[in-house]
Amino acid sequence: MEMYTIMNGVAIPKLGFGTWQLEKGSVATKAVRQALEIGYRHIDAASAYNNEENVGQAVLESGLSRNELFITTKLWNRDHGFEQTIRAFEQSLLLLQTDYVDLYLIHWPIPMERRTDWKSGFGQSWEAMIQLYEAKKIRAIGVCNCRPHHLEYLIARTGFVPMVNQIEFHPGFWQKYVVDWCVEHSILIQAWSPLAQQRVFELPLLKELSGKYNRSLAQICLRWEIQKGVSPIPKSATESRIRENFNVFDFSLTPDEVKQIDRLPECGATGYDPDDFIYPS
Ligand SMILES: NC(=O)c1ccc[n+]([C@@H]2O[C@H](COP(=O)([O-])OP(=O)(O)OC[C@H]3O[C@@H](n4cnc5c(N)ncnc54)[C@H](OP(=O)(O)O)[C@@H]3O)[C@@H](O)[C@H]2O)c1
Repeated sequence: MEMYTIMNGVAIPKLGFGTWQLEKGSVATKAVRQALEIGYRHIDAASAYNNEENVGQAVLESGLSRNELFITTKLWNRDHGFEQTIRAFEQSLLLLQTDYVDLYLIHWPIPMERRTDWKSGFGQSWEAMIQLYEAKKIRAIGVCNCRPHHLEYLIARTGFVPMVNQIEFHPGFWQKYVVDWCVEHSILIQAWSPLAQQRVFELPLLKELSGKYNRSLAQICLRWEIQKGVSPIPKSATESRIRENFNVFDFSLTPDEVKQIDRLPECGATGYDPDDFIYPS
């Protein structure tokens, strides 16, 4: 597996395995176990996905050593605040059956209940994460769904730059201005919904490249993301697709093809707007 090195020197496998919408229980455990058998070593979990315990179970069943794996999990919106973050982190460790995580992310910057004062809970969570990082309970810390103004706030408050920003990123919606800002600040971008949840599979350019390289549409999307220097985390509950998504390191798009995908017309976001996210508590 090829790796990126993030700003604190920690190595992260370029491709990860997403776990959102993997049904809690045997479905989630089986999919994560299959991913580990196929060769994935980077699992993207979150407390909001309600299946961290299945991720932990799959890791145990895999027989792999903990230090062979890169496990990410995320702080959910209701847990913003200093003490809440410490408690939520400890709960994630319990469910994942591990004593550290490789990457801990704040899932969204602005939960609904803090709309009039989003900065205080968000900032306190970031301070708690810095403390956990300095105590070596987390190897790297970052955020999701942040635009430059969210990141600027955390940096101004603490002087500590998030190491990763996980954002929606796929052909037709890749948030260039956020990416450019993060690259300038040495923040690694992770691509969520890297397959746009299949919404881009009808695009003629992607079909043409799929034919040219004899690769699936999903593989073309993932290859483009890796060549753009971001870390995609595709989700699948289907073994053949989990395998297919893993096999993207033995071909390359040309620089011109990468640019052509860059220029595909905007297809809109699949997820929420970070500045306008109202989530029922
Ligand atoms: N930080 C955040 O706010 C945030 C938000 C959203 C997602 N995420 C993370 O990003 C991960 C991926 O995003 P996502 O789950 O939204 O979308 P995605 O990975 O773009 O797409 C998943 C969908 O595509 C299908 N699929 C997977 N591989 C395929 C293939 N090779 N060919 C055809 N269809 C395929 C899956 O179906 P089957 O499962 O039926 O195979 C599923 O319906 C999540 O699981 C989660 O870990 C993070």
